Amino acid sequence: MEKGNLDKASKPTLQPDPTIAKQKRPGKDLLDTISSHEHSIAESNDSLRKLESDLNKKEVELIEKELKLLSMQQELENVRPLSGLYRVVKAMATERKLESILDVITRETSSMLQCDRCSVFVLDSAQGELWTQMAQGLNGQHTIRLPLSCTSVVTLCARSGNSINIPDAYSDSRFDPEVDKSTGYQTKNILCVPMHNRNGSVIGVFEVMNKEKGSFNADDEEWLEALAQVAAGLIEQAQAYAEIEHFVDKTVETLAQTIDKRDPLTAGHSIRVTKYSLAIGEAMAVSENERDILRYAAMMHDYGKIGVPESILWKNGRLTPEEYACVQTHAKLTYELLSNLPFTNRLAQVPFVASCHHEKLDGTGYYRGLKGDEIPFLARVITVSDVFDALTSVRHYRNRMNIVKVYEIMESGRDNHFDPEVIDSFYRLPGSQVLQVMESERGMQIPDSVRNFDSISWLRLVELCQGAKAKRHEEGMKELFYSIYNANLPADYQELD
Ligand SMILES: [Fe+2]
Repeated sequence: MEKGNLDKASKPTLQPDPTIAKQKRPGKDLLDTISSHEHSIAESNDSLRKLESDLNKKEVELIEKELKLLSMQQELENVRPLSGLYRVVKAMATERKLESILDVITRETSSMLQCDRCSVFVLDSAQGELWTQMAQGLNGQHTIRLPLSCTSVVTLCARSGNSINIPDAYSDSRFDPEVDKSTGYQTKNILCVPMHNRNGSVIGVFEVMNKEKGSFNADDEEWLEALAQVAAGLIEQAQAYAEIEHFVDKTVETLAQTIDKRDPLTAGHSIRVTKYSLAIGEAMAVSENERDILRYAAMMHDYGKIGVPESILWKNGRLTPEEYACVQTHAKLTYELLSNLPFTNRLAQVPFVASCHHEKLDGTGYYRGLKGDEIPFLARVITVSDVFDALTSVRHYRNRMNIVKVYEIMESGRDNHFDPEVIDSFYRLPGSQVLQVMESERGMQIPDSVRNFDSISWLRLVELCQGAKAKRHEEGMKELFYSIYNANLPADYQELD
């Protein structure tokens, strides 16, 4: 063997054996895989830790949010009485009527003290009674009156002038279970607080019943006493306002009657014109303020007649042009006299509205000759009422006019004299309402039979009088109407125009 060959043979070159290499590779792969898995596990652990940390963070955030919410709710709970008190005080500035103020107070108190019922009892010292208003669903409200002498927690509170807190009504001798029997209400607990005026006299009682959770506590007593103080001031103010309003109403009515009553034939004219005007105003949804302007302006519209001689006002026959010119001065005098009265801002329009009742839409009326919208809407309402009452009343120069003729005259003035919307609203009034006003202030009993005209409009009643065929429920209405309308007319009554 050649050395070279032997060397070649004995010293084999260290070539990697591909099979060995192939055999070793799985181990390495395994190691790689393990390493890779370890890496993944490490990564997963990292992710898990991150996730855990994130979750912890979120949890902490959520807990924080919840705590915040709870604290906000607590804060809300804490300010609930304050916000209720604020709304009651705000009502003092916006509401004038006692009924509206009582309504706000009872609503807010129930919410503040979280109880089922709240009633404000007002003392009527003249009658020796406590009265309150109870909501009656859609039917509005009705008044409950309790004699001061009766046995109830409310009257006991008014008599003693002290607060009464009864945590368990049925185990307390001061509570009379008969009250629940008559009302069907299940009383659990009661808190009554008296309301005092500035002189320290009791003017009413605040009563809350059935606290939503538990019974009324010292905090509730404190809040109710604070509210009672505010309410007492509001009630006193509203009562004083109502007294003044009643006094002004009666004074205005008396002033108007001094003119009407100069002549028995016109007696009641201003009151009837006011009643028609208010009925039309209500049908046309005027505001509360407009209603007050309408009431005073309608009542006083003819006050300027105080300056017209009786020889002209009472003249039995047609007026000469000079006499008619004299009668016309009453509208201007109404304005001048009423302008001297210190009407408050919200009633400042009364003199102007009252003095426009002879204006006509086409500008041919008096005394300013106003046209269309220049004539205040409320004056247009009074105009329709005034003419209708004049035509349906006996006058020195003519008798009460046949109702069909009245309708024709009113219609001939549509668009030129009268506001058509006002006329139509008047026509839509129930026949009974128009007839009741028409027959009022005439010193005669209004028959109950006017209620028969509840179901038909005034216009329909006129149509029946015009000869329209009566439906079944309208049979006999025309005859009944004439029997009322023509009763007690003067013996020499003739249907003159
Ligand atoms: Fe007049």
